[in-house]
Amino acid sequence: MTMTGARFGKACRRFAVGALFLLLLSPAARAAETPSAVERGAYLVKAAGCISCHTDRKGKGAPLAGGHALKTPFGTYYSPNITPDAKTGIGGWSDQDFLNALWKGVAPDGDDYFPVFPYTTYTKMRRADALAIKAYLFSLKPVAKANTPHDVSAPFGWRWPMTFWKWLYFTEARHVPPPGADAALVRGAYLVEALAHCAECHTPRNFAGALDHDMWMAGTRDGPDGEIAPNITPAPKTGIGEWSADEIVTLLREGVKPDYDDIQGVMGEAIEDGLAHLTDSDLAAIATYVLSLPAIENDVESKP
Ligand code: HEC
Ligand code: HEC
Repeated sequence: MTMTGARFGKACRRFAVGALFLLLLSPAARAAETPSAVERGAYLVKAAGCISCHTDRKGKGAPLAGGHALKTPFGTYYSPNITPDAKTGIGGWSDQDFLNALWKGVAPDGDDYFPVFPYTTYTKMRRADALAIKAYLFSLKPVAKANTPHDVSAPFGWRWPMTFWKWLYFTEARHVPPPGADAALVRGAYLVEALAHCAECHTPRNFAGALDHDMWMAGTRDGPDGEIAPNITPAPKTGIGEWSADEIVTLLREGVKPDYDDIQGVMGEAIEDGLAHLTDSDLAAIATYVLSLPAIENDVESKP
């Protein structure tokens, strides 16, 4: 029996469909579907807010090339260049150098970093996530831009006391998911506590600049750039206890409050350069986490 042209064509198509199916099942095809480290890093850099701190928007500096002034009650710190330029950036760094910076707050030469670089948060980051961020940073064009020295008075400009500061206030540890929590809460806790560092702005600090964990997210009048960071615990009177999860998501994506007020300043930058680019499910996870926090009444908005 000979195959007619039509039947032959049909057989060919079947073969092609079958081959395509097998190809899709093969490990190589599946690997191509999962995002690369560089792609994951590009997303994580937004979730972790690296861009707003490491970009000098006012001076129209290149993204991540540093020079952004961070005003604190102790003085002004300037973020360094974290593009892969060999001389002025971090182009010469190994994976271990990068992990040491994010996890331990230690520079390649052994110096301690000031906690204005929120390694107190990033110490909780998973290894694969930290290295994906490095892969993304190293995929960028190197920008030659020398670092600006910090303008901070003693003792807050001295590095050596940081050894004692860390001994008192810093513990290196990866993130531990809240026990018994559902998937959204686990994801939200990781995003907030290891990446988005909401607490670094929304939690008051003690005289030494360390977060007061008993007042977690309960707001402070001494936020970055001298701004008031509101109480974002679900406290009904002075926090966001009246907000729905959707209202929190809208704020994080669009910078608009339930009363249609626009968010400004450092939170506006955190949204524009980072949070606005997160997926709906990640923003919903952050809202779930925030609404699960212990409610703490703390009035930071009205004058003392
Ligand atoms: C709140 C602002 C802020 C955020 C957010 C921030 N950084 Fe930084 N970072 C700083 C400052 C300020 C320093 C300098 C610290 C010092 O001199 O002790 C620094 C230092 C660093 C260094 C050391 C560079 C060097 O030359 O020694 C690296 C690497 C770094 N940051 C990477 C990151 C990454 C990656 C992210 C996001 C995951 C990030 N930073 C988020 C402010 C920030
Ligand atoms: C760089 C510091 C900073 C970071 C990081 C930050 N915030 Fe904010 N946030 C602020 C400041 C300052 C305001 C007040 C802005 C305004 O009213 O225009 C604010 C406002 C808010 C508000 C509005 C509250 C109200 O009562 O009006 C919410 C909700 C909020 N932030 C949640 C978050 C969450 C969740 C995160 C982490 C995913 C986060 N913020 C990260 C500084 C920060």
